[in-house]
Amino acid sequence: MKLLAWYDQNKRSLPWRLDRASLRDPYRTWISEVMLQQTLIAVVIPAYQRFLEKFPDVFTLARATEDDLRPVVKGLGYYRRFGMLHRAAKIIAEASPQDTPAWPQTQDAWRALPGVGEYTSAAIGSIAFDIPVPVIDGNVERVLCRLADIRQAPNLPALKPRYRKMVEGMLKNSGAMSRPGDFNQAMMELGQRVCTPTSPNCGTCPLASGCISRKSKSQHLAPAPKIRPEYQDVRLRMIVAVRRNPKNELEVALFRRGAGQRFLKGSRGFWYSELVDPCAEFAGSFRHSITRHRITADVQILQVSFCSKKISPLAHMTKENPDWLPVEAIENELISSLDQKAWRLTLRQLLS
Ligand code: ADE
Repeated sequence: MKLLAWYDQNKRSLPWRLDRASLRDPYRTWISEVMLQQTLIAVVIPAYQRFLEKFPDVFTLARATEDDLRPVVKGLGYYRRFGMLHRAAKIIAEASPQDTPAWPQTQDAWRALPGVGEYTSAAIGSIAFDIPVPVIDGNVERVLCRLADIRQAPNLPALKPRYRKMVEGMLKNSGAMSRPGDFNQAMMELGQRVCTPTSPNCGTCPLASGCISRKSKSQHLAPAPKIRPEYQDVRLRMIVAVRRNPKNELEVALFRRGAGQRFLKGSRGFWYSELVDPCAEFAGSFRHSITRHRITADVQILQVSFCSKKISPLAHMTKENPDWLPVEAIENELISSLDQKAWRLTLRQLLS
């Protein structure tokens, strides 16, 4: 098959792509696919290497604490996926009788793990277990739209069954059935590097001879522009509470965010609430986007007195008790950019 031949000659050498000759390791595939879910390859490469050095196998990851994990995934965004990855590692480690991981063997069994959905289970199933299932990401959608000259928004949900049929047909007819992982990665990489949004490089494309858009010279019309989700403006009030302990050392309050919170569930950071009206007297504001929310955050530094009583001095704003951490520890504790920006702003104020 031309596509696989192209892939064999041109594929990027990525740290999670092992030679077919060497043993395939589902752990490496799993970690890389979770990291690639929302993050560019160039950002993933160093993070993946850092991650594997620190957690070389599923048992090390299962034994790790959140404190061990945090610095390793810092900067990648969408942190809930790593909490779920950690939980899934514990499930696998517990289900493994000895020191050999009891990997799920089917796509459905992978899907049953926290944080593994349709796309990731198909990627792991095909790459690490040779299960012939299609992996269809945004790049593959564009390739398929061009192949069939589909001049609609590529992310229309109604197109999903059509994409699936097309890829299943290609897998069956092309001799790629024995290399479904390479086939899927070849399709993704073709979309990333050859069949790009604005300049499809038909001269080097292994699928050019069967491409209807190329024949009709309609590559710029297929697909149509994506349907973009509407951005929502949100205003947050963030409170950085600080106090001096009896030794006169500065401590800062961090809260564990529960399932009821709108943003950054499960992470630890500064207390926030949604604001109806902007507040004028705050220490400063910054902007930050989380998925399709454009956030303006107003930060307030709240000096509270040290109090040994059970009732939190922050009781007027929340019933939850924070952890009070030394000021030097805060930088390392914060994983999300929202908290990091609030902390930088706070430090500027505290030091000025
Ligand atoms: N994007 C997500 N997974 C990928 C993979 N295995 N190869 C190339 N691009 C990807």
